[in-house]
Amino acid sequence: MASSRQKEGNNKGHKGSVAGGDAEANNIKKDLFKGFSRLNMTERFSRLMKMGALTQTDIKYLKSGGIKKPDLAEKFIENVIGYFQIPLGVATNFCIDGKRRAIPMAVEETSIIAAASKTARWVGEHGHIKTYVKGSGVIGQIQFNKVKNFERLKQTIQENEKEWIKRVHEEVMESMHKRGGGVVEFQVRRLPVEEDSSQEEMAVVHVVMDTRDAMGANIVNQVCEYLRTLIESTTDEEVSVCIVSNLSDSRLAVAEVVMSGLNPLLMEKIEQASLFAERDPYRAATSNKGVMNGIDAILIATGNDWRAVAAGVHAYSARKGRYQSVTQWRVKDGKLHGYFEAPLMVGTVGGMTKLHPTAKMCLKMLGVKKSNELARICAAVGLVQNLGALRALTTVGIIEGHMKLHIQNLTLGAGAKGWEIPVIQKHLEIIFGFKNRISLSQAVEALKALREKTVNHAEALKKIRDKHREQALAALKELKAKHKKWIDKI
Ligand code: MEV
Repeated sequence: MASSRQKEGNNKGHKGSVAGGDAEANNIKKDLFKGFSRLNMTERFSRLMKMGALTQTDIKYLKSGGIKKPDLAEKFIENVIGYFQIPLGVATNFCIDGKRRAIPMAVEETSIIAAASKTARWVGEHGHIKTYVKGSGVIGQIQFNKVKNFERLKQTIQENEKEWIKRVHEEVMESMHKRGGGVVEFQVRRLPVEEDSSQEEMAVVHVVMDTRDAMGANIVNQVCEYLRTLIESTTDEEVSVCIVSNLSDSRLAVAEVVMSGLNPLLMEKIEQASLFAERDPYRAATSNKGVMNGIDAILIATGNDWRAVAAGVHAYSARKGRYQSVTQWRVKDGKLHGYFEAPLMVGTVGGMTKLHPTAKMCLKMLGVKKSNELARICAAVGLVQNLGALRALTTVGIIEGHMKLHIQNLTLGAGAKGWEIPVIQKHLEIIFGFKNRISLSQAVEALKALREKTVNHAEALKKIRDKHREQALAALKELKAKHKKWIDKI
């Protein structure tokens, strides 16, 4: 599925292709991730420190609750009144291009990190993840809303291209140019007018730029504004809008997953689910949301502009004239092949990446310096996240994976404390076992009954369909035996 366009990236994705030192480091990380989800926070810190993902200073910072002083917030936005904090976690088991990584993810939704980690382990057991980047351009747009003479404009731009690029490099982006970045080319496009429209012809100049490790929006906007003056003083055309494009399709991040030894029926179901999302925009939107669950969480953790990336991914998903899934899964030669390709405009310098201490720490944890490296990790995590969702959807359904944490959230949401927590959780698990759904009001009711010491699980369970009563009572007996210590307090 990959095209033969310019590719950047090591292709050491295949099993056993990691060189000596890396292989050893990978094995250490693999062991340190074993049972990670069952550890408490102190133990997690200790493991992350052992694998070199966190330092003592990072741990102290995280334990203190992270960033607090509002003066930093004042530097970012206006009318500051505080911070909005969302949880930061680590996805485990990812081995991308032969390198194991701890993936920081900032996200509020239950199960995303668990699903990513579980699926990454599954991928590692059956195959590998390979990533690369095609192209290097970020696009700036200069619009002419009423172009007088398109051909003449095009010719002038082409004649001056070399000279104007030189001037941009000298006057607007000297240091980035020294680091190998700069304007690559101009592309002049005519924007079609509807046949029956009285609108005048529109034109747009695309300024394709290599912005190195910066996300690029700021510098691209500056370059376009600078070019506006040059263009207007050389032509009799008037520029109307100058702005970066978030559909940066001259730099595409690609991730590929190949897995063997899977159940053929499961592979077929995953392929069919993929075709569903490729053919139907209603399904594509949800499928892509699942992909973005993984990508956005990394972008937020690393201080990147997730709205820009999301806009680019969705626009790219509609490039064929119909909104489609950004991933494809196929069964070929008895193997499952997954493919993700999209513009991921990310940066490892500039913006929040270096100013926000948590973003700085997360970039260090990931061990990335180059923006392309970060884009490739995002592509890999997005693809794996999608696989996890498709696997769940085509087998047990999505509710099951969410339920354990959902029950926990409902229990805490209802206000359960200490010894009440496992009792209410078990109660909700039993109800879920029969009804296949669960609500906060059930948790609140159960807690109320427990506190009033009038809890009668058998009575509560009577409400559940009669045919399940025998099983319910057996489950209740088990619950009482298990939690005797607590039940006796009632
Ligand atoms: C939920 O956050 C994401 C999923 O809906 C994605 C999908 O349906 O593929 C599970």
